[in-house]
Amino acid sequence: MKGLFRDKKVLKTCHIYQMLRAQSKKRHASFHTPGHKRKSWDITELSYSDNLSAPRGCIAEAEKDIARILGAKQSFILTDGSTSGVLAMLYAAKTLGARTVAVCENPHKSVFNGCAVLGLQPLVYGVKKKKNIPLQPTMSALKCEYPEVLLADALFFTSPDYYGNTADWEEIRKFCDETGKWLLVDGAHGGHLHFDGKLYAGGYADFWVDGVHKSLPAFTQGAVVSAKDERCADALQRAVDAFRTTSPSYPIMASVEYAVKYPRNEWLERQANGWIQTHERIYAANDWTKICAVFGDRAFEAEKSLESEGIYAEFCDGNIVMFYLSPYMSKKQFSLLTKTLRRYFIKYPLPLCEEQEKRAEKEAQRNPAPVVFGNAEKIWLDIDQAIGHICAENCGLFPPCTPLIKAGERIEKEKIELMKKSINVYGVLNGKIKVLKEKEKE
Ligand SMILES: Cc1ncc(COP(=O)(O)O)c(C=O)c1O
Repeated sequence: MKGLFRDKKVLKTCHIYQMLRAQSKKRHASFHTPGHKRKSWDITELSYSDNLSAPRGCIAEAEKDIARILGAKQSFILTDGSTSGVLAMLYAAKTLGARTVAVCENPHKSVFNGCAVLGLQPLVYGVKKKKNIPLQPTMSALKCEYPEVLLADALFFTSPDYYGNTADWEEIRKFCDETGKWLLVDGAHGGHLHFDGKLYAGGYADFWVDGVHKSLPAFTQGAVVSAKDERCADALQRAVDAFRTTSPSYPIMASVEYAVKYPRNEWLERQANGWIQTHERIYAANDWTKICAVFGDRAFEAEKSLESEGIYAEFCDGNIVMFYLSPYMSKKQFSLLTKTLRRYFIKYPLPLCEEQEKRAEKEAQRNPAPVVFGNAEKIWLDIDQAIGHICAENCGLFPPCTPLIKAGERIEKEKIELMKKSINVYGVLNGKIKVLKEKEKE
């Protein structure tokens, strides 16, 4: 606990931390859950510790402060990750009348799962790619290429994405105001952006998630979901209650409050932005916490070599290796990264090959609509044997947990090779992928 909570000035303002600290000094014989009998600050709802489901004490105070900082009418602490926030936003939109949701073809898997569970219809549009990296959609492109998708009751955006690309909130909000649509934003990677009015979803979205644990100093699973006004807050309150655990972790809650209150690190932002905007081997996006180093088709090799030196990146997609920064990082850590990357750019001089770029462009032109197979028979096939078959369930790299091979797509060798090179994947069970049973392939 104490290792994380190091900024004394911030801690003075943290209601949940102060409650835990004060109680830790008192006599306390535990005849309640959890079963470890109070071996840490991990406690349950007691007379003094408030209740996340109906907060009146320190949690209510913390949520009030968080809402003020994030510019929300109401914010809800989550201890089950951004996943539960995404599900809650979708449910809240549904209770407010939404039946269809416009979403890009590669959102986090929680979006399609949420739509399926809640009976919402996703209207899916394709995304363009640049140097194999998926880009944010623009309103003008959507209006021109996917007008039918924009008839949806709600628009769902992920911003920033895993590569640091951010949406243009001004134009998106304007469209939603003109057409009366709900705007939902998955900011799982943007918890640190509340300092930046233009890039941050708060102030524009009706509902938005801040994945606090990813880019701010909070324990894993710490997140926040927020609502813009009273009507949205009322719907979100009920929705959050449906998906959130009834046994929230107090250390996670305390860390969420601490992380949201953690100060901006302007020095690091300047340094990182400088690198991102000027280095030809770093993908130029506008979120300083994502350093996407381009290694082309030697990316997995570079990642492995880095790990042999004890340097662990967030993920590798077979083209870039992404290094995740946070305001909590020290100058020493940043310097380790820049020095190492300089060395690795010399060791792995390969530029992105043209063929990859062409393939990315071709992919962007594919029809992204999700495929529903109904009762069609599906079988699990060894990953190598699955080549040439029709994929029956989305699968991809983990992270970013966005579909690499989509249901309905004919499986290509190149993508299977990419999946095999990656250490973590989803949609693959015991080395097998679910495919459509096709008579001619039997
Ligand atoms: C864009 C996006 N949204 C949502 C999530 C889910 O977040 P969590 O793992 O905190 O539940 C992730 C996780 O990687 C993500 O990348």
